[in-house]
Amino acid sequence: MRILIVGSGGREHALAWRLAQAGHSLLAAPGNPGIALVAECAPVPALDLDGQVALALAREVDLVVVGPEAPLVAGLADRLRAAGVAVFGPSAQGAQLEGSKVFSKQFFARHHIRTAAFRVASSVAEVEDAIAELGAALVVKADGLAAGKGVVVCSDAQEVRAAAVEMLGGRFGAASKQVVLEQRLSGREVSVLALTDGRGLEVLAPAEDHKTIFDGDRGPNTGGMGTVSPAWISEDLLARIRREILEPTVAGLNAEGIDYRGVLYAGVMVDPEGQPWLLEYNCRFGDPETQPVMARLRGDLGAVLAGAARGAMPAGALSWDPRAAVCVVVAAAGYPDAPRLGEVIRGAEGPWGAGVTVFHAGTARRDDVLVSAGGRVLGVTALGATVEEARRQAYAAVDRIELPGKQVRRDIGLRGGAAG
Ligand code: AMP
Ligand code: GLY
Repeated sequence: MRILIVGSGGREHALAWRLAQAGHSLLAAPGNPGIALVAECAPVPALDLDGQVALALAREVDLVVVGPEAPLVAGLADRLRAAGVAVFGPSAQGAQLEGSKVFSKQFFARHHIRTAAFRVASSVAEVEDAIAELGAALVVKADGLAAGKGVVVCSDAQEVRAAAVEMLGGRFGAASKQVVLEQRLSGREVSVLALTDGRGLEVLAPAEDHKTIFDGDRGPNTGGMGTVSPAWISEDLLARIRREILEPTVAGLNAEGIDYRGVLYAGVMVDPEGQPWLLEYNCRFGDPETQPVMARLRGDLGAVLAGAARGAMPAGALSWDPRAAVCVVVAAAGYPDAPRLGEVIRGAEGPWGAGVTVFHAGTARRDDVLVSAGGRVLGVTALGATVEEARRQAYAAVDRIELPGKQVRRDIGLRGGAAG
């Protein structure tokens, strides 16, 4: 097949790399220098919906795979389908599961999916009501997309008020005209991604992200500083997440007549009693979850995505390398607040041993020199017989890559648990 991948990050590089290995011919828009090693790149921005539709038609692609959430929320899948192009990615209505926290929390409540108790507020008075009803250990969430910065975990009423007032005051524009205030949960998180054709589910190997910038889960949240797959959860717990979260979601989407052919990425918190709570859905592959998950995936992903796009996903077509995979993100100095861009990167080409792959995220070529062009620059991914072995391989490669001021967490994969 000829497949167009929309996006330019580490997630898209991992998808392109896996699909190219299965023999598909790949086009990426806009892509990045790493993706250019396995795909032809066209300089069309992900959010240029007209440009993406025109490219898909001009190049007669068999399938479009949309990487990031913003074009999905903006309706790229609908536009492509209207033009007769097969696309793996939900409709704008379906993408509201990620694009609106108010919509998604109300959807979970309607379909009896276990999620933290919440209130919606659009005024300071409603924020006070929420504190009075739910207590002050709350998490404040901007309704709309906020590039990963729209969630503030609070410990007292002062913090809740400050975060909510700032958001309602327009910190994220229209995206924070409403906020969700929800009870703060404790436990350990896991990312469970499933592919769906709107009816069936293919649950991918789970992964664990490391969200904060510093070791030991300290510092501000980022898009994700590293991932491990398999994650620490048991087969039983994974089956429960499927039964209690993913299946009711697909049933709910059908009951509401919402077209959803794409990834359901459940961000799940497992409490100390072992109960899974749904924190959020993302409507696309995770980044950097996709990197270790693609490293372990066996089978023809292209056939599965194309089947899902048609509404007829083949069952049981994927399997998993039993080895562990670890992805360590190399981030720019100043990330997440103000990443320093344009720094020269040396050593990213390797050579690497078998099982090590360096996925490009925020990179660009300047006069044939590789430079940083985003907060998260590279995702160094390694397979190993154990998490410890995968970690060792990944960090050995990380240490050979030069980027002035680079930020790397040293504790990816150290939490342990069932898989570690
Ligand atoms: P979200 O975008 O909703 O997944 O939130 C981003 C991160 O904030 C999550 O991965 C959690 O680490 C944290 N978080 C979100 N909701 C809660 C909650 N109810 N209790 C505790 N932490 C939360
Ligand atoms: N790794 C978190 C995300 O993809 O949203």
